Amino acid sequence: MTTGNTQAWDATLRTFCDPGDSILVEEYTFAASLEAAKPLEVNCIPVSIDDHGIVPEKLDELLNNWDAFKKKPKLLYTIPTGQNPTGSTLSAKRREAIYKIACKHDFIIVEDEPYYFLQMGNYKTKAAKSESSEPPVKKFTQEKLLQSLVPSFLHFDTEGRVVRLDSLSKVLAPGVRIGWIVAQKEVIEKYVYLNEVSIQSPSGFSQSMVHSLLTRWGQSGYLEWLIELRHEYTIKRDFTMDVLTEVLPKSVATVVAPTAGMFFSIVIDGSKHPDFKTKFESDPLKVEEALFESSVKDGSLMVPGSWFQSPNFKAHDDSFFFRGTYAAVPLDNLKIGLTRFGETVKKFYGL
Ligand SMILES: Cc1ncc(COP(=O)(O)O)c(C=O)c1O
Repeated sequence: MTTGNTQAWDATLRTFCDPGDSILVEEYTFAASLEAAKPLEVNCIPVSIDDHGIVPEKLDELLNNWDAFKKKPKLLYTIPTGQNPTGSTLSAKRREAIYKIACKHDFIIVEDEPYYFLQMGNYKTKAAKSESSEPPVKKFTQEKLLQSLVPSFLHFDTEGRVVRLDSLSKVLAPGVRIGWIVAQKEVIEKYVYLNEVSIQSPSGFSQSMVHSLLTRWGQSGYLEWLIELRHEYTIKRDFTMDVLTEVLPKSVATVVAPTAGMFFSIVIDGSKHPDFKTKFESDPLKVEEALFESSVKDGSLMVPGSWFQSPNFKAHDDSFFFRGTYAAVPLDNLKIGLTRFGETVKKFYGL
């Protein structure tokens, strides 16, 4: 058991890596995970991603062309479901392909999965929903929920090279500070030794509260809870996408609807700004910074994508993105914030 995925990841770095080792990370990833690697002198090597997460072919290419004089990466750190910050989710097909690459190039896959049980399925546009005879957002049965989940990397793991980090932070309460690691026995033993000299265990007080809650709910009650969460998040995700479709200027901004988790990203083309070449010296990150400042002044808060950029990574084109979340915001406030952001983008681009 862990005190959540932040600690589980730190423990993973300490368990597997020595100073000077390399690990693979998504081009944009949870900033705290990158920060944890720094003092341990672990090099983070970016792996190409698209709207659906890691691109297996690009990962294979990177490792096939690895400098023969340099040690190969020991592990891949990935957030497969509802990725933070992009919101993408890896399909079963990609997970399987990435697992095969891990076997070929002999590395461990560490899946950081706090959003795993917040899977929602595809977004249906407002128009598609109004044409359908079904209720706008249907609640799943327990069986359907379990069937609908994208398989974990563990599902493909025949060689014991997957380590899964799970947390109650996003499905119960972040303050309980309870998580757990699933891996093969020999690997878990190492974590247990580390726990003995670090956290010992998550708070016993928290554990007993969670234990009595889950015992009272039972497996079925917990699934009902997850069904409610799925329902709530789907309503918020759909509402966010509906509003963004209306308020964003399509000529410069695009948004991809997430199928899991609490994040969405708005991709903006820096080169379309009238002052891109002059005031911003053809640097999309300067446009991003100025737009961020304008949006904060106008009263909306989206997080610049560059804050999550892995070291050694340079953007491929002139676009940048902002991460938003619908997790803790009531729908009326969400509408105000998203509309303000859309207005700021229009004003900023002179549209
Ligand atoms: C990918 C990822 N990992 C870990 C965490 C932190 O999880 P925990 O509260 O379990 O430490 C977060 C967010 O807070 C996250 O987005």
